[in-house]
Amino acid sequence: MGLNQTVRCMGLSFQNPVLVASGTFGYGDECYDIMPFSSLGGLVTKTITAARREGNPPPRIVETDAGMLNSIGLANVGLECFLAEKLPWIAQHAGLAKVIVNIAGFSVDEFVEVGAAVGSRPEVDALEINLGCPNVRAGYIHFGADPESVRRVISGVRKKVNLPVIAKLTPNVTDIASLAEVAIDAGADALSLINTLPGMKIDVAERRPVLGMGFGGLSGPAIRPVGVACVYKVCQHMQRMDAQVPIIGIGGISCGTDALEYILAGASLVQVGTASFVHPQAPGNIARELAEYCETEGIGNISDLVGLAHQH
Ligand SMILES: Cc1cc2nc3c(=O)[nH]c(=O)nc-3n(C[C@H](O)[C@H](O)[C@H](O)COP(=O)(O)O)c2cc1C
Repeated sequence: MGLNQTVRCMGLSFQNPVLVASGTFGYGDECYDIMPFSSLGGLVTKTITAARREGNPPPRIVETDAGMLNSIGLANVGLECFLAEKLPWIAQHAGLAKVIVNIAGFSVDEFVEVGAAVGSRPEVDALEINLGCPNVRAGYIHFGADPESVRRVISGVRKKVNLPVIAKLTPNVTDIASLAEVAIDAGADALSLINTLPGMKIDVAERRPVLGMGFGGLSGPAIRPVGVACVYKVCQHMQRMDAQVPIIGIGGISCGTDALEYILAGASLVQVGTASFVHPQAPGNIARELAEYCETEGIGNISDLVGLAHQH
């Protein structure tokens, strides 16, 4: 192929526009032999919190008609172990792939503490802030659903780090564009959208919810139209604001054509999550399909397609 797939975004150079989404690729080590993330644009780690977390009671994953529900509950090794053990391994194996660490907290202070610690490490290229986490002090409302919380988390982390800060927004709000604007005003260098949508599956024979927690987050092909609409809406809003903040499209991307939908809606990069559970090599295949599309259509660089659906 030999095509140049490089995407410049947030001052970084991505060797191709496909990244693996947080929580669906662990710390890069679980699938490395089958899908080395070094061939991708980047790895977004599982969300890291200050303390180690075991997560929610099982079962934590169940398949649905066009996707899956998960209630992992931010299970992770915790900040200390991540910095001491996981991050060095990731950096050693990353090659040209960018290392993006996804962080969260249950208070603004925790976000800032974790962000500052991770952001001071040279192995890290960018931080992704998971705003889909419940704010314990504000009655467990998601940070991402409250403009003031979004502003405090993003500006708090922004002040502590020199790296690009990506705000990962939740679609579970009335107006995602206004929350995107708050994140940008607070200093976000890019926006990732979307995280999962709330859902539930009931076991009819047992007459109770399947997941241990009852509710879970819906992901996979079922949410792609929601994600594409969010990217389109936020891109449109930014054009009106005259803001030039890149968008990373996430949600139900299983093939190159799915990724193209997001790119045409306004995404500069994409992340692949649930598709890796169906086929661990999906992210690499998607990158290849995008390159083949560009070659067939005579497009010099995939970035030339970003937002083109807005011209109609
Ligand atoms: C099993 C599982 C675990 C996830 N864990 C996280 C997480 O720790 N942090 C986060 O920001 N998003 C997490 N997500 C959300 C994904 O990163 C992504 O935003 C979402 O699944 C939509 O993309 P997809 O349809 O390609 O999976 C998780 C998703 C799944 C399926």
